[in-house]
Amino acid sequence: MTKLRVYELAKELGISSKKLIETLEDLDVVVKNHMSTIDDDIAKLVTELIEEESGKSNKKKAAQASDDKKAEPADKEEKKVLTAKNEKAEDKQKTITVPSKISVKDLGALLGIEPVKIIKRLMNYGLMVNINAEIDFESAKKIANEFDVDIVEEKQDNEEFMLEEVDDPKDLKPRPPVVTVMGHVDHGKTSLLDAIRQTNVTQQEAGGITQHIGASEVEVNGKKIVFLDTPGHEAFTAMRARGAKVTDIAILVVAADDGVMPQTVEALNHAKAADIPIIVAINKIDKPNANPERIKQQLSDYGLIPEEWGGDTIFVNVSAKARIGIEQLLEMILLVAEMQELKANYNCRARGVIIEAKLDKGRGPIATVLVQRGTLKLGDGIVAGTAYGKVRALFDSHGKRIKSAGPSTPVEVLGLSEVPTAGDILLAVSSEKEAKSISDERKNLQKEPEYDTPQRISLDKLFEKM
Ligand code: GTP
Ligand code: MG
Repeated sequence: MTKLRVYELAKELGISSKKLIETLEDLDVVVKNHMSTIDDDIAKLVTELIEEESGKSNKKKAAQASDDKKAEPADKEEKKVLTAKNEKAEDKQKTITVPSKISVKDLGALLGIEPVKIIKRLMNYGLMVNINAEIDFESAKKIANEFDVDIVEEKQDNEEFMLEEVDDPKDLKPRPPVVTVMGHVDHGKTSLLDAIRQTNVTQQEAGGITQHIGASEVEVNGKKIVFLDTPGHEAFTAMRARGAKVTDIAILVVAADDGVMPQTVEALNHAKAADIPIIVAINKIDKPNANPERIKQQLSDYGLIPEEWGGDTIFVNVSAKARIGIEQLLEMILLVAEMQELKANYNCRARGVIIEAKLDKGRGPIATVLVQRGTLKLGDGIVAGTAYGKVRALFDSHGKRIKSAGPSTPVEVLGLSEVPTAGDILLAVSSEKEAKSISDERKNLQKEPEYDTPQRISLDKLFEKM
């Protein structure tokens, strides 16, 4: 079959070549001009997209039917089994076996869903893919579940639970650890962070005043550590619920004169659920009634067993007030970080998490973003939730203007259209225009009643395990 040229397909669809090229760009398909040829499956995909946009459904049905046909083998078998059990079983959830890596196109064929719908759902998860991109099983499962289909993995060798593009190991370079301080009310989280910052302030900056941006960076023995300023349990949970693992190490602060309290347990459960290593900082050891041994005993009941008792949890006695043990705590953080071999790709489009965001009277929406992957640059098109825009200015954790921010860098970002929600994923895309179209897409999805409430509930459930 001869391939269609852009202008030919545009004519067929009754739209301008320009509009078609824009739509192709939205799908991550780059074409040079109106004379470029388009692959058949891309042509089909873009046709569906355009027709869906213009509200025509005739051809869509045909496409659906042809997809259904492809899905027939799996489908038929499945139906046979189900019918044997129950006449009405067809209405029940289908179960389909899929490989641990599957392309969007193949998944669409197996599920009998138009690939464009899958691409849209993936966009919602912050994953920009084209029709031929391979996605991992967990992502495929989430998508399938949204369409009321359950899928099982063909091979059980893929344990990664990441909605992320996979990097080639050779593109990966070391990145600083990101640390969160957690613990019960008044046990000294803020004081400890202050102590850490001040211990290092002289090496950091001349003025000694750190602008508060919800995160800070300190340097120990030439190595950087990033601290998130106590996002609090809610924000932490929100971030996890969105599938974003923001922290590499959790510091669990427990006051030596108080002991393990409900929020201590809550915090350690969060960290455990997210599979984040915990370093226990027994704080306030300057107090006369401090009893660090009792804390160790209490935490042992929760599986945090000190090394000297044969366990593998690092405990450090500190006093934020008297500045005792701070250096040792920092060294332990670096030690744990070293064991994690934290790496990231610096040379790709940025992806980050909104740590906090606010509306500034003069400067508009300001978001503190922790860049996790790639490098965020001035001028990049960006989208976070339904907020979109272009990076107008970047400020580092010391309030200094910078031009770009790589992995594990907390950075203040100016240029979003609205204030995003903490925990939202920020994505750099090819242009502000693309950012806007993703945002529009998301707004539309939010409007679609069929996905509104049920989707939210099922999403929470889907991420529950994380
Ligand atoms: P919330 O943010 O309210 O949850 O509290 P927090 O955990 O951030 O505790 P914060 O740092 O505000 O400290 C609570 C109180 O404990 C303050 O009065 C601190 O001065 C005091 N404090 C913190 N660390 C120490 C310490 O090492 N020794 C002593 N003696 N007091 C401390
Ligand atoms: Mg505090």
